[in-house]
Amino acid sequence: MKSIGIGILGFGTVGAGVVEGLLKNGDLIAARTGIQPVIRAIADLDLESDRGIEVDRALLTTDAAAVIRDPEIQVIVELIGGTGIARTLVLDALKAGKSVVTANKALLAEHGPELYAAAEQYQADLLFEASTGGGIPIIRALREGLSGNRIEEICGILNGTCNYILTRMENEKLPFDQVLREAQEAGYAEAEPSLDIDGFDTAHKAVVLATLAFGRSINMDDVAVQGIREVSATDIEYAAELGYRIKLLAVIKQNGHGVEIGVYPALITRQHMLASVSHAFNAVLVRGDIVGETLYYGQGAGRAATASAVIGDIVDAARNHVGETPYRIPAFVPCSPEVALRAPEDIVTRYYLRLSLKDEPGIFALVAQMLAGHNINIASVMQKEARTCGAVPVIILTHSACEGEFRAALAEIDALDQVLAPTVCYRIEDFT
Ligand code: HSE
Repeated sequence: MKSIGIGILGFGTVGAGVVEGLLKNGDLIAARTGIQPVIRAIADLDLESDRGIEVDRALLTTDAAAVIRDPEIQVIVELIGGTGIARTLVLDALKAGKSVVTANKALLAEHGPELYAAAEQYQADLLFEASTGGGIPIIRALREGLSGNRIEEICGILNGTCNYILTRMENEKLPFDQVLREAQEAGYAEAEPSLDIDGFDTAHKAVVLATLAFGRSINMDDVAVQGIREVSATDIEYAAELGYRIKLLAVIKQNGHGVEIGVYPALITRQHMLASVSHAFNAVLVRGDIVGETLYYGQGAGRAATASAVIGDIVDAARNHVGETPYRIPAFVPCSPEVALRAPEDIVTRYYLRLSLKDEPGIFALVAQMLAGHNINIASVMQKEARTCGAVPVIILTHSACEGEFRAALAEIDALDQVLAPTVCYRIEDFT
């Protein structure tokens, strides 16, 4: 039986999950592939904490560089996270011709071009299934299963924390702050939740997916990012009355006019399968020009799901080594450099608006006139009686309009004295 040596850098939650998974299913992997995965070293600065698994202490080291140099190790698994030392170690491993498996979406989103170039230069595998969608094999779907397709659209719920918060806000009619606090107390949300709730974790994943899908170098500056901090229980309730749910989406689209990439809370109709994705689950819709729509669903984070993705990559790297086909599937293939990013003002979409209007005759007519002045067609309207003696909430769903026109109309509307608070607006995703 052939074997493959594995060095794990970072023995935190996911690292422990990978070790546990390899100990549990190593023989199954060997039976399937003819290659026995062998953990030869685990590097971490903390060698004392209990990870809940039995590990031979002789495997533990604080010297990550020595793990990379070890000639018995062919696959380096980077689970340190961040963009500092992790970047150096990944580059060193690629330069040494080792296969690299990483779960590090921030590293890929911020230093992807440098890492992809190093993988190509040294003809080494750079595998990152665990970076996006946790246990969902979405990277493999894009790199392999759908590789004969031109990707037209990807729409994903890619952050479990946000989806958990939005689900509880809707189901239990609770405000954002309360659900976030409870999620932190229960360990679902980080003590410092900004990366998740402000949309940047989703944006990192969007960059990874868009880069693969379009074969075009994408970076964080190309992504318009809006998180869920401002989403109110009121808007979730009104959206529900109109037949919609609010979800934090990564939206990646390509058409004849160019590419658009955004992360934002949006309304989706409750009939759509993505609307049923609740709590901490993730799902990704991919539309290819040959296959049409495909949908991928599963646990988007957590020790076991992420470990499953990492182990799948280790198996691929092992097969490539044994078959002497490293870099069989390049980390990045430029294939549509001509596709330009669309300017935000040119993006065409539908909108949900919640206006806070003074209760006087003719105000709604004024608002409708301003929308019409920018060629924005109203699809439906819902007006509530004022809940207190304050503003009257008026909810408008529009037909498709250019974002530039929409922003101009909104600026005019919000400048009216009779508009008592800034208008709340979200996009509506129709999946046409
Ligand atoms: N914090 C992320 C989430 C998982 O809540 O989905 C890691 O990307």
